[in-house]
Amino acid sequence: MCGIVGYVGPRPAAELLVTGLRRLEYRGYDSAGIATLDGDRVLHRHRTVGEVDNLARKLAAERAPGTTGIAHTRWATHGAPTQRNAHPHFDASGTIAVVHNGIIENYRSIRAFLTEQGIEPASETDTEALAQLIGYLYHDGGNGESGNLLASVRRALHDVRGTFGLVVISRDHPDQLIAARRGSPVLVGVGDGEHVVASDGAAVIEHTRQVVYLDDNELALLTRDGLRASTIDDIPLSKSVSTLEVRLQEIELDGHRHHMSKEIHEQPAALRNTLRGRIDQNEGTVVLGGLADRERELARYQRVILTGCGTAWHAGLIGEYLFEELARVPAEVEYASELRYRNPVIQRNTLGIVLSQSGETADSVAALRELQLKGATTLGIVNVVGSSIARETDSGVYLHVGPEIGVASTKAFTGQVAVLALLAINMGRRRHLSPERTAGLLRQLDEIPAKIERILAMADAIRDLTERYVERENWLYLGRGVNYPVALEGALKLKEISYIHAEGLPAAEMKHGPIALIDRGMPVVVVAPRDHTYDKVVANIEEVKGRAGSIIAIATEGDRHLAELADAIIYVPKTHPLLSPLVTTIPLQLMAYYAALARGHNVDRPRNLAKSVTVE
Ligand code: AGP
Ligand code: GLU
Repeated sequence: MCGIVGYVGPRPAAELLVTGLRRLEYRGYDSAGIATLDGDRVLHRHRTVGEVDNLARKLAAERAPGTTGIAHTRWATHGAPTQRNAHPHFDASGTIAVVHNGIIENYRSIRAFLTEQGIEPASETDTEALAQLIGYLYHDGGNGESGNLLASVRRALHDVRGTFGLVVISRDHPDQLIAARRGSPVLVGVGDGEHVVASDGAAVIEHTRQVVYLDDNELALLTRDGLRASTIDDIPLSKSVSTLEVRLQEIELDGHRHHMSKEIHEQPAALRNTLRGRIDQNEGTVVLGGLADRERELARYQRVILTGCGTAWHAGLIGEYLFEELARVPAEVEYASELRYRNPVIQRNTLGIVLSQSGETADSVAALRELQLKGATTLGIVNVVGSSIARETDSGVYLHVGPEIGVASTKAFTGQVAVLALLAINMGRRRHLSPERTAGLLRQLDEIPAKIERILAMADAIRDLTERYVERENWLYLGRGVNYPVALEGALKLKEISYIHAEGLPAAEMKHGPIALIDRGMPVVVVAPRDHTYDKVVANIEEVKGRAGSIIAIATEGDRHLAELADAIIYVPKTHPLLSPLVTTIPLQLMAYYAALARGHNVDRPRNLAKSVTVE
């Protein structure tokens, strides 16, 4: 998720750590913090909300002495982005400090256990539960961990579920760092009498190019001169040292030219995070911690209203199909900007779902308040933890896709669709879905990230195809059923960053007017996976061909028929029809990206647009 830097060596740690954090800023974050350990074994902790600059200013005024330290930029997943929730987190005795990237899934039960032992949390984070657990085992563990920091860390990591990249320091162990990884990157820069540990090469490269990458379930004990690697279960490892070959800028974008490209390619990992801990395959159920005690109420809603703006509204349209098909609940979707002024009729037992990446979109906040005023129970599907919508809704489910920096929303869209699928399946299961059907759907959902990986592997072919049409000023996007919103989303992406005029339509609507636009070679992107609307979509394709339009088809792998009909074809893996937007969207995102590149536009900062529209 976000950024970690740690240092042990002869130099003053604070300045070096803050410079390291600045190197990680491109990842996006909401707060930052540092802890250093001085020669008198005192831990100095400083944390600030907002930019690393704020932290740097604080450090200029206050002291952070010591040559051992850890630092963090946080992208909140559990608990709002406040100073109290910023890392490093301490154990109850203030002996141990931890920085952590990722999610501790079972933090609630760890926290409950700690509370029984008389340890009260000092923050809302999942990370603090881990820091406290290490501290508890270290001071009190009783199972041989007591007094042994390394054993306490191992034992705690053994007991936690979820993902982590982390670094631990302790007042009792000056000149020592413990780093570990499961699912969240950690690498160790090996310097001359010093070690710099980080979540990203960008924070290490100005000190050394010699690095050791930790793999999942591995741990490293670092001193100034020593690096001892082992598995978390204490099997010794000999790790090889690699050389960071790349330039700083290349690392910062992970080899991508733009945030948008990086975020498109992050989608498999981002969706794995969205789904993590939320699918119980054994029970055939969905677990949504953010709903907590409200989860049972999903059985009683008689109507669902979804609202949002732009891309979030498109996700809402897909949600409408999902809720009606899977939960058999009447659902409707409304632009937030319209809903707020429409004086909507809200009946009893209405669930109002507000979708927003930023959680700050002014129209969506106003729509939420209108829904609440009229008595709907509200639920937020939001990416930014602690944002206005996340705070004001009655309950919520976070996307956990990590910060989205590119103005054109990509991974937040697939994250929203995945959360809507989880919710609709959950609601359906409480009504009429059998355990078997539920388990089948959840299995298919679980397979989506791997399918997206296969599409991303075709990026070069999608670029070449797009470049053939990029001179054209008008494009149409067609889709039916659950892929009609995908057509809208594809058209919006193209408009936003390439400034090509594009229109998305339900395929059959074309003949009621827009067909007049079609002339020789006009690009018409048709989203046509194999589902119950397939034959109808093929008929619409024939209509376009009859007017000499150029068909770019998004089709299910192995569809030979469409290969013959279309001028260009992009295959996506076969997927459950209701989940198909999660795969059919990907090629459209890539097409928009490559069209904008070919036209020489600033992909991450398109003209006239802001990432988050906080004014009406
Ligand atoms: C998407 O690419 C857009 N930039 C825009 O439509 C966006 O989705 C919309 O402004 C809503 O933003 P939100 O999700 O942060 O509320
Ligand atoms: N889950 C942790 C938190 O919310 C870590 C977030 C991160 O990776 O930045 O504090």
